[in-house]
This record gives sequence, C-alpha cells and structure tokens, in this order.
Amino acid sequence: MVTITGINFKNPTMLASGIMGTTGASLLRIAECGAGGVVTKSIGPEPKAGHPNPSMIKLECGFLNAMGLPNPSYNEFDNEIKLARSGTDVPVIASIFGGNAEDFVKVAEGLADSEPAAFELNVSCPHAEGYGATIGTDTCMVESITAAVCDAVDVPVWVKLTPNVTDIKAIGKAAQDGGADAVVAINTLRGMAIDINSGYPILGNRFGGLSGSAVKPVAIKCVYDLYEALAIPVIGVGGVSTWEDAVEMMMAGASGVQIGSAVHESVDIFSDIASGIELFLQDKGYSAVEDIIGLSHKVI
Ligand code: DHB
Repeated sequence: MVTITGINFKNPTMLASGIMGTTGASLLRIAECGAGGVVTKSIGPEPKAGHPNPSMIKLECGFLNAMGLPNPSYNEFDNEIKLARSGTDVPVIASIFGGNAEDFVKVAEGLADSEPAAFELNVSCPHAEGYGATIGTDTCMVESITAAVCDAVDVPVWVKLTPNVTDIKAIGKAAQDGGADAVVAINTLRGMAIDINSGYPILGNRFGGLSGSAVKPVAIKCVYDLYEALAIPVIGVGGVSTWEDAVEMMMAGASGVQIGSAVHESVDIFSDIASGIELFLQDKGYSAVEDIIGLSHKVI
C-alpha cells in the first residue's frame, strides 16, 4: 500500500490520463486488472470533437498522438465517474482542462458531485491551442489556476506538468505555490512525423506529443529535479513499461507511477509491475515502497 496526498493506493501503479479513460466501463476494467488508481481522459467545459485523423501513430520508439482533447464535457462525464466508482474501491482521479481559471473551476465543480478521489489539472497537453501547455508554460497561470481549483474543491489537487519548458522546476514551484497537493510529471514531448512519399506531416494536427519508451529518460530527469525542488509529492509518468522502469522512477523520486502507452501491450501490466516491485522490495530487504522513493538522492 502507498498513501499519496492522503489517498490510499493498494499499489503504486496508476492508469495515466488519456488511455482507456473515456468511459466508466473502461476505467473499471483497468481497475479490475490491478491498477492502484485510475485517471480519466481529460474533461473540459464544453463538448470537443478533437483533431482530425490520423490522431495517433505508432513509431519504433513509442507513439505520437494529437487527439485534441476530444471529450463530451463535464456535464456528460460525471455519470462515467460515478459508474467507475460504484464498481471499485480503486481511487478514480478526474483529469480536467480549461482555457482559464474560470473554466477549470466550472469543470471541477461540475464533477464534484461524482466524488473523484482527486483532480489532476491538465496544463500540459502539447498541441491544443489555448489549453494545456499554453497555460502550463506560464508560471503565473499555473499558480492562479491551481489556487482557484484548490479553493473550489475539497479533494487533493494534482497538477500534470509539461516537459516542453526550459525549467520544469519553476512550473512545479508555481503549482506548489498555488496549493497543489502533488505534481505529475511528465506529459508528452512535442514531436512530429512526415511521410516521405508525399511530404505531408502524418498527424491530422501536423504535430503531436511523443510517449512511450523514448521519453523515459526525460521523465526520470524531470522527476529527479522536481523531487529535489519541491516539498509536495511527485507522481512519475513517461515511458514506464516494466517493473524495473517503475522502480527507477520511484528511486528518482516518484511516490507513484502512472502507465499509459505500455497499456497497448497488455492490460495486465499493472498487476505485473505491482508484483515485480513487491518482489524487488523483498529481494533487497526493503520494508516498504517508501524505502525506495527518492533513493537516488540519498546515495553518494
Ligand atoms: C491530449 C493529449 C495530451 O497529452 C493530454 O495531456 C491531454 C489530451 C489529447 O490530444 O487529447
């Protein structure tokens, strides 16, 4: 068990936002597959169709996606959270987005009735103009939006950060100053692929966000830096596909580890990684996961 921002998780793995999180049934399926927690697809103030297809492509080193925040809005999504919650004790975290503090508060208040365990603020989607990283690269906006949501809700507020900045620590500090209970690092890295036969950018949006194994070393460094700079917990995400990756992320400073792209391989990944961590702890004589969180900062 691990407690993060006052929420108990049976193991440190969580479903990352954006994958299998668009319905209550799919969230429930992942919960039943052994995830310690599940995070919804990002939900906004108005229904949004998203970017034109192709919106996701597989590369050798991971995935490029530019979904464009498709979602039915908070009005249509609260029932999905209720459905997921009614079938499981696994904490359900609501990922939300907006273009300003007012939007974020509207969505958080609109979903409060479905009682998510926490809100994860998406200020990091790299390809939706006016949303996501447009906000998450500005320390003032991150601080004020975080403060507004923290004021409006009575559950923990996590802030998901973009790596597409010069100094992620400054953005993490802004979230912390706004009252965030935790930061989540990292969202996808901006990227692009071009079809050499036609010269066309492949994604409908022309560019998108890179996820998967390729981004893991970037995520490890961001988590490492944030752990050192902040007093609040860091939740790690980015390229984790094995229990060894999860242990590495925790040693960098992650209190929990979210998994996204690797769900493509198998939904059993959560129980596989959770039991791999457990066996590693036993083998090495650690008494709890807390023993390895931030360990790489303590060795000389
Ligand atoms: C989308 C992509 C992201 O990286 C994210 O954080 C949220 C949404 C998307 O394209 O829908």
